[in-house]
Amino acid sequence: MGGKEKMSKLNIPTHRDDYRIAVIPGDGTGPEVINEGLKVLKAASQKFGFKYESNIFDFSGERYLRTGKTVDEKDIEELKKYNAIYLGAVGHPDVKPGILETQVLLKLRFALDQYINLRPVKLYNPAYCPLKDKKPEDIDFVVVRENSEGLYKGMGEFQKKGTDEEVAIQISYNTRKGVERCIRYAFEYCKKRNKGNKLTLCGKTNVLTYAWDLWQRTFNEVAKEYPDIKTDYAHVDATTMWFVKNPEWFDVIVTDNMFGDIITDLGAMIQGGMGIAAGGNINPKGVSMFEPIGGSAPKYTGQNVINPLAAICAGGMMLENLGEEKAGKAIEEAVIKVVNTKLKSLAAGKMGYSTSEVGDLVAGSL
Ligand code: IPM
Ligand code: MN
Repeated sequence: MGGKEKMSKLNIPTHRDDYRIAVIPGDGTGPEVINEGLKVLKAASQKFGFKYESNIFDFSGERYLRTGKTVDEKDIEELKKYNAIYLGAVGHPDVKPGILETQVLLKLRFALDQYINLRPVKLYNPAYCPLKDKKPEDIDFVVVRENSEGLYKGMGEFQKKGTDEEVAIQISYNTRKGVERCIRYAFEYCKKRNKGNKLTLCGKTNVLTYAWDLWQRTFNEVAKEYPDIKTDYAHVDATTMWFVKNPEWFDVIVTDNMFGDIITDLGAMIQGGMGIAAGGNINPKGVSMFEPIGGSAPKYTGQNVINPLAAICAGGMMLENLGEEKAGKAIEEAVIKVVNTKLKSLAAGKMGYSTSEVGDLVAGSL
């Protein structure tokens, strides 16, 4: 995944490893948090000696309202020339819900075949956990969400639309290949993480008997290739219960697109809120995209109060994925330090510092 050869045989940096990063600040508070992420990225590049070039792509709601444009095939071809994408947020209050989501965010995920949505759930400070008596060691797991199929495929139809007899059909589309590549990624990830060495399949085998039969069979088959990984199964409803009651049971969880979407919002809450939750849309052999998962938060836009840590953590994930593992880890450690020694809260407007000051603190602790 990612990392290219860093040094020549003589141990002289070759600089062939420079990265091209496409930056999509997006809407609302996206540009503000991405600015802080770029600040930290710059500090990391100076400290760890890698070089990168970043270019801004305006796929915002503002641009859509002005021009009617979102993301087209030419944009996708252009983005394929980059090593990674760094995304702020998608969603504009004046644009009808669904347009930017499908034509920008989901378009990028699908067109670049970013078939994994990786969402670490890690508590950095017990003070920010809404659960009683849970410590950082209790909340440290990763959700591997399938990111290219399921209910997100957009398949279905209306029948007799607008009549009393109307039917709306929304199909969950699951291919053996799509399910298997996701499950394989999850096993590999769990093995590489080497923490609990336990992978939980989160599904709904008791009701969704086609989709989850395929998932369960595929999971069981792939599991045979990983005898050192313990496997487990949990229904999605029970999973939400255990996130609250016994989050320490989880190490790595693999699930479909819709369930992954839902459980990772709950995951974000138990790790301290949207201000700290980061994710990666991964194509292991292509261009991956990293984002804070919190959205565009229109009501905080332009006030310099939003928490940039999720975006900063997403930047750290991006570096790890590019092969700059030390830099990625250092960013995470700097974030932990700032969270534990400086901030009053992780919530917008309550941090005790402005957005840009939090960026300065992290860059300074690197
Ligand atoms: C997320 C978001 C997106 C999703 C929306 C904005 C389309 O909620 O990244 O989790 O549903 O995947
Ligand atoms: Mn979501």
